[in-house]
Amino acid sequence: MDITRWLKALEDTRLADGIRHSLYAFPLLESLHVMALSVVFGTIIIVDLRLLGLASTRRPVTRVTAELLRWTWSAFAAAAVTGALMFLTNARVYANNTSFRVKMLLLALAGLNMIIFHRTALRTIARWDRDSATPGASKSAAALSMVLWVGIIVAGRVIGFTTTGAEAKAAPPSIENFDDFLSGAADGAAPTQTGATARAAHDDAANLTIKVLMDTLVDPSGDFLFESVEDIADERGITHKAPQTAEDWAAVRHHLQVLMDAPALLDVPGRRAAEPTDRSRNPASESQPEEIQRLLDGQHADFVLRAERLRQAAAVGMDAANARDLKALFAAISLIDKACESCHLHYWYPNDERAHQAAKEEGGILE
Ligand code: HEC
Repeated sequence: MDITRWLKALEDTRLADGIRHSLYAFPLLESLHVMALSVVFGTIIIVDLRLLGLASTRRPVTRVTAELLRWTWSAFAAAAVTGALMFLTNARVYANNTSFRVKMLLLALAGLNMIIFHRTALRTIARWDRDSATPGASKSAAALSMVLWVGIIVAGRVIGFTTTGAEAKAAPPSIENFDDFLSGAADGAAPTQTGATARAAHDDAANLTIKVLMDTLVDPSGDFLFESVEDIADERGITHKAPQTAEDWAAVRHHLQVLMDAPALLDVPGRRAAEPTDRSRNPASESQPEEIQRLLDGQHADFVLRAERLRQAAAVGMDAANARDLKALFAAISLIDKACESCHLHYWYPNDERAHQAAKEEGGILE
């Protein structure tokens, strides 16, 4: 199975999502992880120092280990659990992080070192349990253990510096000379580097497809509005959800404005439906990009009209929002919904009989 998909599936678990979205979960896990690791490291170092003949030399080795190893293992379990939970939140980034890989490798080596020590030097413990100077093999195992654990701590610390914001995109190109930037963008003056960058950005905007505009602009604002004014029926009866505070109303106005502005972007002549590679997810009902494109090319004026319906519905909503008239806003949002559906029925899923039937039953949707 594809490991990246598997890691992504870990990131998508509800547990991972919960930790990512909680203000306290990750810092709490990290603190517990560090505390657990200090106990693991601290107790292991005491045993290592005893084996090296540098500390607790008047006590038998078995007594030192008997008293400490319970703590080592309990703390190790806690460190493993907290570590795994942190890993979930950003699995792909951690799995590809060099420090993380080094830390896991060193952990495995520390485990191997321990197993070898148990099978060799420790077998003869009865003979040197009380000696302050232990045999060479156990001294080397102890020294190696210390080195590996110091490495684990250092690598673990570096993970924190090399993964934060690892998924953030590269910074946008900086604009060094504002005049060049403006003239380059406005009239294609001498192609300075910043002017060229600006023009590239401009071309990019002209290349945005309807699908991208839907996904990034129209749909998020539509969803916001559909969810901001609604009747919710649940066990407590019917509650009316509506904007309350000045900020709520400002957000409603913002999203109405987006829907008022979007038609002008949708209408740009030559605007393509989607990239050829954007295959339909439900080909039985939704058309493929080239089918949508054929319709668009043949009837640009009709498309502009349907986009204009969206703009008008949003403008009616804006008047309602300015007057803080909830009833009028509710009606306008239902008009917006119908404008979306009207355009989709015609261009996006013209062959979806069920959608056409539902539109007829609902009424008021111009097909
Ligand atoms: C003027 C026509 C028009 C209007 C108005 C319109 N859409 Fe669309 N929409 C389209 C077309 C065409 C597609 C199909 C694009 C494609 O996938 O090729 C589409 C696709 C979509 C998609 C699917 C995008 C994807 O990733 O496949 C969503 C979601 C969507 N629209 C939401 C909305 C919402 C919400 C509204 C109203 C607020 C709305 N649209 C209004 C024309 C319109």
